[in-house]
Amino acid sequence: MLPPTIAWVDGRIELLDQTALPRVTTTSVATVDQLVDAIRRLVVRGAPALGAAGALGVALAARTVAAEELAAEAARIAAARPTAVNLEVGVRRALAAADDGPQAVLAAALVLMAEDVDSCRAVGDRGAALLRELCGPAPLRLHTHCNAGAAACVGIGTALGVVRALHEVGGVRYVVADETRPLLQGARITAVELGAMGVEHRLVVDGAGPSIIARGLVDAVVVGADRIAANGDVANKIGTYPLALAAARAGIPFLVAAPETTVDPATPDGAAIEIEERDPGEVLGTTAPHGSAAWNPAFDVTPADLVTAIVTDARTWRP
Ligand code: MRU
Repeated sequence: MLPPTIAWVDGRIELLDQTALPRVTTTSVATVDQLVDAIRRLVVRGAPALGAAGALGVALAARTVAAEELAAEAARIAAARPTAVNLEVGVRRALAAADDGPQAVLAAALVLMAEDVDSCRAVGDRGAALLRELCGPAPLRLHTHCNAGAAACVGIGTALGVVRALHEVGGVRYVVADETRPLLQGARITAVELGAMGVEHRLVVDGAGPSIIARGLVDAVVVGADRIAANGDVANKIGTYPLALAAARAGIPFLVAAPETTVDPATPDGAAIEIEERDPGEVLGTTAPHGSAAWNPAFDVTPADLVTAIVTDARTWRP
């Protein structure tokens, strides 16, 4: 079991350092500058965990900066990464309590975190029930991308919450997990979580995913989301879209599992979602020849028509 992804401990934010996984180490954040840096470096990552980080960040700021500076500090936290809507949702929720003082801001952040625990459970149960309905009662061969597990949330995870709920009733044969270049959230984090759950799994390079689906080795794809537009277009980790295309071609379900807070009614469609462009160095590493350039979009958009269902804590939505 990994330590908690994020917690409030003695006036500081305690984070599982996800840049170091599978080596387990935690880090403590005491200032907004440190938090913004941790978010940018993916020390804390995954949409629901970013929501918690945003809310606790405002709680931290409320204790350390003058009241008239709080809104600017909150805006700085919300802007640390652009794609996952939960970051700004978390910041907004905590900031809304600011008039009642720092304790009220912290209380709002802690409520948001408690809600994520319930939400993950609900998403997991709903997604597991839907997969059984769509695919039948035999143990399933699932495919996932990036990490939408406990490390990405306060609770048990969204896509991996579905896996956990199914596994609890003997409903998982194996999970295919993409490595998830360039930062390897699949290899470094999802594989750890699946191992801790006792779920049989196979890691594959990202490029193998679609052909594994085409070869009939997978019954359904289940992924998380960073932002879901009003029309049902889904932004998630780069490499999700090819899985959706392959799933549609193979005629298997493509499920998105996310809290309702990831649905952003203010974003009409996928084209309006800002896709984070990260440091080309993450792609080039030390292997590309000196002078090469790279593109490093961190997310892609899967159009709603490729999504079989979006499962949230509140509903099953077939966009
Ligand atoms: O760049 P990351 O690691 O923050 O990206 C995470 C993802 O894309 C997850 O799939 C998404 O946030 C859902 S987490 C429950």
